[in-house]
Amino acid sequence: MGKKLDFFKTFVKDRDVASVIPTSPRCVKKVCLNIDFSKDFTLVEYGPGNGVFTEHLIENMTEGSRLILIEANKDFADQLKAAINDPRVTIHNALAGDVESILDQEDVGNIDYVLSGIPFSFLKNDRKIIVLNATKKILKKDGLFLAYQTSGHLKKPVMEVFGNFETDFEPLNIPPYFIYKVYNKAS
Ligand SMILES: C[S@@+](CC[C@H](N)C(=O)[O-])C[C@H]1O[C@@H](n2cnc3c(N)ncnc32)[C@H](O)[C@@H]1O
Repeated sequence: MGKKLDFFKTFVKDRDVASVIPTSPRCVKKVCLNIDFSKDFTLVEYGPGNGVFTEHLIENMTEGSRLILIEANKDFADQLKAAINDPRVTIHNALAGDVESILDQEDVGNIDYVLSGIPFSFLKNDRKIIVLNATKKILKKDGLFLAYQTSGHLKKPVMEVFGNFETDFEPLNIPPYFIYKVYNKAS
């Protein structure tokens, strides 16, 4: 309950948090079914919040995997830095749109997965395209962009940048989420 309350308090101060409580464990598992935890991977997470997906990733990823967290809210970024002491994980208090310059500081090649919880619906269309283009650039060929969102609004910009998507729906989460699965088909 403490974590949910802290999340709500952060939402009250910063509406870009976009949700009143963290994503449910059921929805976390559903989104993460798209990740192959048997192999080493590098994953960038946009908008980890207080870390519900992050915890699941850390618990399940191999010793050789890397996780790079990009969180805009300073309180959340500080909470994550205090809670996580794992050499596989780095935490940046920054915007998803700055992912390319962030990765310049990291010793990683192209990325296997980008997992995103940021509220794309709050961004103007040109900003959505900037974030999606940066995401496409950092992903490996056949790398996967996974995003959970409150509506179908991401279909058009995702088609414009990636040319493909599949969606699933998780009605029981608060809020209900569309889950986007998008491949980086070009090299
Ligand atoms: C809907 S919450 C999801 C939090 C968490 N991943 C979860 O599933 O419970 C959205 C998160 O994205 C962060 N965020 C919003 N805009 C962002 C941006 N442009 N770059 C990085 N993080 C952002 C918010 O601070 C918040 O932590």
